Amino acid sequence: MRQSSVDLKSSGRSIGFVPTMGALHGGHVSLINEAKKCNDAAVLSIFVNPTQFAPGEDYNSYPRDIERDKITASDTGVDILFLPSADEMYPEGFKTFVNVEGITESLCGRFRPRHFKGVATVVLKLFNIVMPDRAYFGEKDYQQLLVVKKMVKDLNLDIEIKGMPTIREWDGLAMSSRNGYLNRKERISAVSLSTALKTSQEMVKNDERRAEKIIGEMEKVINNEDAAKIDYISICDPDTLKDIEIIDNRALAALAVRIGKTRLIDNCILEVK
Ligand code: PAJ
Repeated sequence: MRQSSVDLKSSGRSIGFVPTMGALHGGHVSLINEAKKCNDAAVLSIFVNPTQFAPGEDYNSYPRDIERDKITASDTGVDILFLPSADEMYPEGFKTFVNVEGITESLCGRFRPRHFKGVATVVLKLFNIVMPDRAYFGEKDYQQLLVVKKMVKDLNLDIEIKGMPTIREWDGLAMSSRNGYLNRKERISAVSLSTALKTSQEMVKNDERRAEKIIGEMEKVINNEDAAKIDYISICDPDTLKDIEIIDNRALAALAVRIGKTRLIDNCILEVK
């Protein structure tokens, strides 16, 4: 991989990079399309990163379908598909981790305390191997996008981080590799995440500014579903992820909900016009 990147760069070509954990869907494809559009070569990595899963989470059962992913990669015109193994990425004796402080402590960080350390570490490793000019991340994982941007800034990496809009199913459910875990009933309940976000946007449009009120209505939407259990619903500052009480300009509405055994996340921006 490194040699391919060196060859591309020495011939003056730019590299757009899309890191993923595979089980590719429309969200991933939108990132690949953007990487292709804005760079001379698009690199896609697929690596289910063990260090971002806690014991008891779904590392072992995470969907892996490399044959289907290879077809998607070639159909979307990926130039290089990078498929490292866990042994290559984390050989025996691996001891170095990247910890972005502050923004990793709220939202998902409260429920998955070591998750972002695993994400930042693997993303930095992938950046060092692929040496991209630009890298593409989805706003669906908003906190992750902020963590990567912060790491790039703090560690002086010469890589442009591009955040891309969330791609949704026809009924509003944000596309996710984990949607495949849902049975038919759960799949219906899962729409409540995006419905709750729409409720929050409607309320802001109708001049509600109190976060507590908005969160209360969002909770009602989610709790209407028997299979749904809220991890968190937050209305926070889109840069610091600190909770806010009154929305006076822009805010992030973010939530994590367990539908049966499947943990789903989603978010949207709330804007006061
Ligand atoms: P994964 O969940 O496979 O997601 C890979 C990229 O696709 C991430 O940037 C994610 O935000 C984006 N993505 C996922 N669903 C999306 C959707 N519905 N719309 C738009 N973009 C979407 O996120 C990871 O993998 C890993 O943590 C990784 C960054 C690869 C590090 O291991």
